[in-house]
This record gives sequence, C-alpha cells and structure tokens, in this order.
Amino acid sequence: MDQNYFPPLTNLLQLSCIFIFFLLTRSSTTASRATVDPHYLACVNKTCGDGQNISFPFYIKDQQQSFCGFPGFELSCNNAGNPILGLPGGDNQYIIHHIFYNNQTLRVSNSAFWDMKSSTSGSGGNYCDVFTSFKNLSFPSDHQFEFVGDHKTQVSVLYNCSRGTGDNRTLSERLVSKKVDGCWNGDEDSVVAVDEDDPDLGLAREECTEMVVTPVEGYGGESTAMITRLRGGFRMKWTASNCSVCEQSGGKCGFDNSTYHFKCFCPDRPHAWHCTGRPDSFQ
Ligand SMILES: *[C@@H]1O[C@H](CO)[C@@H](O)[C@H](O)[C@H]1NC(C)=O
Ligand SMILES: *[C@@H]1O[C@H](CO)[C@@H](O)[C@H](O)[C@H]1NC(C)=O
Ligand SMILES: *[C@@H]1O[C@H](CO)[C@@H](O)[C@H](O)[C@H]1NC(C)=O
Ligand SMILES: *[C@@H]1O[C@H](CO)[C@@H](O)[C@H](O)[C@H]1NC(C)=O
Ligand SMILES: *[C@@H]1O[C@H](CO)[C@@H](O)[C@H](O)[C@H]1NC(C)=O
Ligand SMILES: *[C@@H]1O[C@H](CO)[C@@H](O)[C@H](O)[C@H]1NC(C)=O
Ligand SMILES: *[C@@H]1O[C@H](CO)[C@@H](O)[C@H](O)[C@H]1NC(C)=O
Ligand SMILES: *[C@@H]1O[C@H](CO)[C@@H](O)[C@H](O)[C@H]1NC(C)=O
Repeated sequence: MDQNYFPPLTNLLQLSCIFIFFLLTRSSTTASRATVDPHYLACVNKTCGDGQNISFPFYIKDQQQSFCGFPGFELSCNNAGNPILGLPGGDNQYIIHHIFYNNQTLRVSNSAFWDMKSSTSGSGGNYCDVFTSFKNLSFPSDHQFEFVGDHKTQVSVLYNCSRGTGDNRTLSERLVSKKVDGCWNGDEDSVVAVDEDDPDLGLAREECTEMVVTPVEGYGGESTAMITRLRGGFRMKWTASNCSVCEQSGGKCGFDNSTYHFKCFCPDRPHAWHCTGRPDSFQ
C-alpha cells in the first residue's frame, strides 16, 4: 500500500478517529466493570469438594479472599475434599462435617480419627502414628467457638498401656475391648478410648498414659462403636456478626481488616450492615 496517495491531513484525521474510538470503548468497558464492587464479585461460595457451601464467616485459604470471612474462621481443604478447621492452641485439625448456617453451629471431629484408618493400610510402622500430634482441644478466650449439644460426653484417649514390664507387656483383658479400631499393632502400641462414666477409666489411667480428652456426642447411641462415635465428633456454636440482614438485602457478608469491622459488600460499594436501593437491578 502506498500511503502517499492520501493527503497527510486526512491520514491524521483517520488515525485520530481510530484513537478516539479506542479511548471511548476502553473507558466505557472500564466504567461498566467499576459499577460492580470487586469485593462483591470476589465473595462467592466455594467448596472443598464435598459439596458443602463455604461462605461467611468461613473462608477457604487460597480459594477465597480473607475479607470474605471473619477473622479466626479460615479453613483449608484436605485431600478427601473436606473443609478443615484448625483451632488455635494446637496442631489439631478438625474435619467439618456439617455447617448449619441457620443457627450458627457446626459439627466437627478430630481428623486423627479418620487418618488412622487410612494409615492401617500401610505396611509396618505404628498404625497409630497419627496420634502423636494429638492435643487437648483448647478454645481461644474470645468465645468464638463453644460446645453445644445435650448428649455430649468426654472420652479419654490413652496409649502406652501395659501391665507387665519389658517384653511381656500386655493389655488388661477389660481394656482389650476399649481398643480403638485401626490401632492393632500389638498391645504395647494400643490406643484405647474410654468414656468418662466408664468404670474402667480408672484402670485405664493406671495402665496407660493419658493423651487427650475429647468431647463426643451420642450419635447412634451407646451401642455404636467407639471409633464411629469419635469420628462423628461434636457440635460447636460460633460467634460472628449476623449475616442474614446483609444477605437478605442482596449483599455478601465480609470483613474490613483495616477498621476491624463487619462489612456488607454490595454491588455498588461496601456498606456497614446492608445494601441500599434495589439489589435486583444489579443482577
Ligand atoms: C449451597 O447453596 C445453594 C444456594 O443457596 C443451595 O441450593 C445448596 O443446597 C447449598 N448446598 C448445601 C450442601 O447446603
Ligand atoms: C452460599 O451458601 C450459603 C450457605 O449454604 C447459602 O445460604 C447461600 O444461599 C449460598 N449463596 C449462593 C449464591 O449460592
Ligand atoms: C440473625 O438475624 C436475623 C434477623 O434479624 C434473626 O432472625 C436471626 O435469628 C439471627 N441469627 C442469629 C444466629 O442470631
Ligand atoms: C441447628 O439446626 C439444625 C437443623 O437446621 C438442627 O439439627 C440442630 O439441632 C440445630 N442446632 C442447635 C444447637 O439448635
Ligand atoms: C509409658 O508408660 C510408662 C509407665 O508404664 C512411662 O514410664 C513412660 O513414660 C510412658 N511413655 C510415654 C512415651 O509416655
Ligand atoms: C506374660 O504375662 C502373662 C500374664 O500377665 C503370663 O501368663 C505369661 O506367662 C508371661 N510371659 C512371659 C514370657 O513372661
Ligand atoms: C489432656 O487433658 C487431660 C486431663 O484433662 C490430661 O490428663 C492430659 O495430660 C492432657 N493432655 C495433653 C497432651 O495435654
Ligand atoms: C490484616 O491486615 C494486616 C495489615 O494490613 C495484615 O498483616 C493481616 O495479615 C491482615 N489479616 C488478614 C486476615 O487478612
């Protein structure tokens, strides 16, 4: 193409028109994007894979922004697709089985009771290695989590049980039935679990070293195997800002880290408690 056929002025005009057009389209797309607040866009429900909705006050580290949740409600995901809550004050990992957003409760159990099952499939070694990092549950003093439930009992988990000495270390017959499934690597490595009202608790404390005391709810009743009860876990109530007013106004609940306050992320901008205007028009 020979550009010299066009007079220079026309050429310049053409270029300017293209440039102005480019500017206009660019600024208009930027403007339409800017009308929806990025916090609002960012805070969508996620799942670890098991289908549970993870939303305020919880947020999944690496999947959701921390401003979509409340401080202290950070979750991670395990390989099985369960959300994991790591309560402060220990390395304990709690599998979240169900979150009841309607009454701010959740059911959890220590993941060690699930991990020991898969560790039995390995050859050799101590089947109950997973218990080495076991700690008593300790809640932070801010009452973010508290136990709920009527049929809760305290179960003692004990290990290093023996009557004899040296090579002849055996478990008392009465404690054999208290062995937790999955820890069958000989008596000396037995892990036993005993209810707080079990008359053999004293015997177990004599023969074994106590590891932890963990709350367990009566899922399935007394006849249910101890390991099933341990895996069923217990319920806790959480305390965080009430999300429902914000949610009902069309917003997404979140948290402002700089002011350390609840925020309601609305399509237009973050609000203090709820959205104003007609949220439907932003769909
Ligand atoms: C997740 O949320 C959606 C939308 O409210 C709902 O339809 C679905 O049943 C929820 N899933 C679970 C497992 O609660
Ligand atoms: C997100 O999950 C919560 C809790 O299950 C549910 O109430 C809400 O409807 C979900 N929101 C969407 C957009 O799915
Ligand atoms: C949250 O607020 C709503 C509406 O005010 C109320 O119905 C609900 O019971 C509250 N939820 C909790 C857990 O306090
Ligand atoms: C919370 O709600 C669920 C069902 O929505 C119910 O099964 C559970 O008992 C309730 N928990 C409390 C502590 O009220
Ligand atoms: C195992 O039990 C013996 C007493 O029977 C105790 O001296 C020892 O410290 C215990 N070992 C561990 C690792 O707790
Ligand atoms: C080990 O102890 C049991 C009873 O506690 C006893 O019957 C058995 O003979 C002992 N074995 C050895 C080798 O000492
Ligand atoms: C857990 O608590 C029980 C009694 O409440 C105690 O005997 C045990 O040593 C504690 N375990 C740890 C690891 O602190
Ligand atoms: C809150 O902000 C501080 C400083 O800006 C930062 O160090 C901290 O990691 C933030 N916390 C969360 C949960 O984002």
